[in-house]
Amino acid sequence: MLALNTDHLKSFVSTDELDKAFPSVHRAHDFLLQHNGPGAEFTGWLDLPSRISDAFIKELTALAAEVQKNSDCIVSIGIGGSYLGIRATIEFLGSGKLPVYYAGHQISSDYLHQLLNTLKDKRPTVVVISKSGTTTEPAIAFRVIKKSLESKFSSEDLKQRIICVTDQKKGALRKIADQAGYRSFVIPDDVGGRYSVLTPVGLVPLALAGIDIAGLVEGARKAQAEYAVCDLEKNTCYRYAALRNILYNKGKRIEVLASFYPEVFYVAEWFKQLFGESEGKQGKGIFPASLIMSTDLHSMGQWMQEAERSVFETFLQIDKPHHDVIIPEDKEDLDGFNYVAGKGFDFVNKKAYEATSAAHFEGGVPNMTITLCKADAVHLGHLYYFFEKACGISGYVLGVNPFDQPGVEAYKKKMFALLGKRL
Ligand code: PA5
Repeated sequence: MLALNTDHLKSFVSTDELDKAFPSVHRAHDFLLQHNGPGAEFTGWLDLPSRISDAFIKELTALAAEVQKNSDCIVSIGIGGSYLGIRATIEFLGSGKLPVYYAGHQISSDYLHQLLNTLKDKRPTVVVISKSGTTTEPAIAFRVIKKSLESKFSSEDLKQRIICVTDQKKGALRKIADQAGYRSFVIPDDVGGRYSVLTPVGLVPLALAGIDIAGLVEGARKAQAEYAVCDLEKNTCYRYAALRNILYNKGKRIEVLASFYPEVFYVAEWFKQLFGESEGKQGKGIFPASLIMSTDLHSMGQWMQEAERSVFETFLQIDKPHHDVIIPEDKEDLDGFNYVAGKGFDFVNKKAYEATSAAHFEGGVPNMTITLCKADAVHLGHLYYFFEKACGISGYVLGVNPFDQPGVEAYKKKMFALLGKRL
């Protein structure tokens, strides 16, 4: 389902170094397994795939059928962990039955103005997602969108059109949902935002949009079983976590997640939040970055090849894309490209990847490649779990709590003071 190729780490990481990393990986594994490491109260994602019941998937599928009858789009309101997994899934898999618009993931007035215009003649179902229920960006976007819907729909209609995904008891969004009688779903207490794509945070809006959530969960369940063993040889997830720490300790401070598939763009954004928020603390942490090739080879390719050698690269490849396009023969061959006539675009794309990984390796950038067999829901669900577990292990190996995000509060405090919020 998912393979990890480390050929281009040779000369950068030795087998001996990997062996020496095992005790710290083992300790991290025990922390997770016994739920007794830092941030243990937020490790509910670990067995989440096997805890999602088939009955819940059925319930969401039935709700989706109902929503798809009376709506022509979904508006998903949320930020960070309450946004990125949803968008990553939709952009990766392609839209389902209903288009999804996003709000509350930034505060641009022009963006919201345009969205309100787009929604004018539409019959949306709005899913507002916030674990804390108090986050400024989605809260004010929801307020505006709700107001605009109130001018078109009765309060009874809105009870069908507004769905809240939030904490069971705490937060303003819970209060709003209960008071207005909106349908609501609960985010488990023990799963933090960036690990929550397989909770109602992701599953509710994705199901409503017509995405194969059963497939996502199936892939994650397989990953949960596959990455349970504490063995660096057999467990690719643990090997990846160990390798990135070894590289970090050798001065490779930046990890670039690079893909030759543009549909990976938002998966990379999700990845950056996952690792950035989990590991970037106490003056430590690999800086997670991303590139989409070959577009970015014509902008960042120079940097990757020759700049400061403080970077390593993780390629995310897809073995079998959904479609291929054959390059035609041209009688005159004025552009000189008949030498690739009859070949598929994917063949050329894969040669570009092979060339890039080899060139970067020779240029001093250690790189590894994660290959997904297919770009479907099952494989994406598997990949989400792979990265989540790798992140939990990697954060503990690094010596931080991978499940808190104290630094995110700093800007909020200053913003609230500037906005005149009474504390
Ligand atoms: O990972 C996290 O915890 C954060 O990125 C949150 O997901 C983000 O701040 C949104 O929080 P909330 O869902 O409480 O609105």
